Amino acid sequence: MKLLVATRNHHKLREIREILHLPGVALVGADEVPGLPEVAEDAPTFEGNAIKKALVLAKASGCWTLADDSGLEVEALQGAPGVHSARYAGPAASTPANNAKLLQALDGVKDRRARFRCVLALCSPQGESWTVEGRCEGRILEAPQGAQGFGYDPLFVPDGHAQSFAELSAACKNQLSHRGQALQRAVTVWRERLVGC
Ligand code: IMP
Repeated sequence: MKLLVATRNHHKLREIREILHLPGVALVGADEVPGLPEVAEDAPTFEGNAIKKALVLAKASGCWTLADDSGLEVEALQGAPGVHSARYAGPAASTPANNAKLLQALDGVKDRRARFRCVLALCSPQGESWTVEGRCEGRILEAPQGAQGFGYDPLFVPDGHAQSFAELSAACKNQLSHRGQALQRAVTVWRERLVGC
């Protein structure tokens, strides 16, 4: 069966493909299905955005659909950038601009604690939905380190490690990360639903 993954972010799609192995289930990205609508991520929570993306694309495609909404929450910034992580420095902000804004906001701040959160939503073409969540606690560096990964990876060091997500191997990031945790939970909780649909 075909499981539509409601993202046009190739980094996210690659990570999801690396982790989610289900017999007989082919993961298809939103860019591979012509004519799907763009979905505005305007809900105030990760859960709201994930359900909205999955629901709209499940209805439009007639396929079971998995959506991820994720972001970074910084303690000293009262949870910002949160659901605005992709657009922290403005509506069409680049990754370097978002990262520079974060470093500026934390200039001179001692408390560097932060967490990545990921909510995955699964929707049936009939509009039923379910969610699971994964989290990864860590801290924000004072300057970027490493060249792998995407987004805030060069600034985030997960607890128990000395290297940033952009320095750790993909396998290590997938094991520790918010997305990895949420996907491992999804495989456990949704296995029968996914391989049966
Ligand atoms: P959205 O889920 O498409 O709204 O975007 C989430 C944003 O959060 C991304 O554009 C990144 O800025 C950030 N983000 C989410 N997951 C990760 C990750 O694994 N590494 C680095 N940044 C991430």
